[in-house]
Amino acid sequence: MRTRPLKVALLGCGVVGSEVARIMTTHADDLTARIGAPVELAGVAVRRPSKVREGIDPALVTTDATALVKRGDIDVVVEVIGGIEPARALITTAFEHGASVVSANKALIAQDGAALHAAAEQHGRDLYYEAAVAGAIPLIRPLRESLAGDKVNRVLGIVNGTTNFILDKMDSTGAGYQEALDEATALGYAEADPTADVEGFDAAAKAAILAGIAFHTRVRLDDVYREGMAEVTAADFASAKRMGCTIKLLAICERAADGGSVTARVHPAMIPLSHPLASVREAYNAVFVEAEAAGQLMFYGPGAGGAPTASAVLGDLVAVCRNKLGEATGPGDSAYTQLPVSPMGEVVTRYHISLDVADKPGVLAQVATVFAEHGVSIDTVRQTGKDGEASLVVVTHRAPDAALSGTVEALRRLDTVRGVASIMRVEGE
Ligand code: NDP
Ligand code: HSE
Repeated sequence: MRTRPLKVALLGCGVVGSEVARIMTTHADDLTARIGAPVELAGVAVRRPSKVREGIDPALVTTDATALVKRGDIDVVVEVIGGIEPARALITTAFEHGASVVSANKALIAQDGAALHAAAEQHGRDLYYEAAVAGAIPLIRPLRESLAGDKVNRVLGIVNGTTNFILDKMDSTGAGYQEALDEATALGYAEADPTADVEGFDAAAKAAILAGIAFHTRVRLDDVYREGMAEVTAADFASAKRMGCTIKLLAICERAADGGSVTARVHPAMIPLSHPLASVREAYNAVFVEAEAAGQLMFYGPGAGGAPTASAVLGDLVAVCRNKLGEATGPGDSAYTQLPVSPMGEVVTRYHISLDVADKPGVLAQVATVFAEHGVSIDTVRQTGKDGEASLVVVTHRAPDAALSGTVEALRRLDTVRGVASIMRVEGE
């Protein structure tokens, strides 16, 4: 057992960072035994130094994060500031000054993961980020290591705790959107700017990271089709219920059947109540991974919050410290397949479309003709109406997204169609 401690610089001491510091202190003996050397919190960089931080020695607190990572005696930098800058510059500087890095920053990894991995490799350091996707759930390491001998074809799941919390509250208690978002923010689930959650940017960043690792290719944030959940209404939930479904914000990454391309998308979707994802409540996340030899695997657990996320950070910290003592580095970037990312138009799935139409002879036939002209086959139609107006709910069989978009455009041009109230994909059947 080495007695000289491994020194850790903690960048950020907010929801996640404060829990990382707490666990490092309270579990110090166990961490020492598991790593084979003590770990010492050597400095804590924050924005507001005068804020009272329970359990943190004020002498360790600094606002000069750059000086901390440049000290030269830091073994591991834990970056839990978030955002692009200064996090990116600090991580690069850490590599240059001999430290490995553990980060929870999905926005940064999705945008600059390739360059950061290259910098880590150039300096012989580790870059780990288990906490960046799905909070406490081990997902990056299983994909990168446990499934390294298999061929992953699909990753599908709920990867944002805040939006799952909001959708769950809207569905189960009838809570309003803003009320549920405020509660998720107070519980520490939401990003510094919660539009990243509700507009789907956070889930899209996670989808880009997952698709890249799962398919050994490069998937950028811009490659991920994204729709948020801010438009989901109580009427959508009522319609979903009538179909025996609920609504979840899903991230779906797929390898094409011919293996020659991949897709990645994030959007709200109706899923049957019998599907395991339908019972994922509050800020929990769940992800299905389908691999050729392994079959279907499900990963489930707390997807956000200080302590759960800190658990993933600490797991990485232990792994990186072990590597350091063994004078090794862990598995790095793997993007050798260089598969192109296909546009959303090529995705094939089912759709639930709500239309407001005139209630008169021939309208249903007109609407059905538009679907047929675009090659979209109708599965079910439900009509309710009064006073000459009707609400029409059409559920389709599987069709390419481009064909559905063409259908909706043509429907909007019909005089008898007053409006397209909602379009939602149906998944998980
Ligand atoms: P918080 O906003 O709670 O904490 C951010 C911390 O960074 C604060 O301590 C803040 O200082 C510090 N900070 C901000 N700017 C600077 C700067 N320029 N220099 C030094 N310190 C700075 O965020 P979270 O803890 O919630 O999130 C941190 C990261 O973890 C993000 O990347 C997030 O996406 C990720 N993450 C968060 C999860 C969650 O559930 N919250 C789950 C999974 C990942 P001060 O305290 O003085 O304001
Ligand atoms: N804001 C994120 C979420 C934190 O709600 O899932 C976890 O990544």
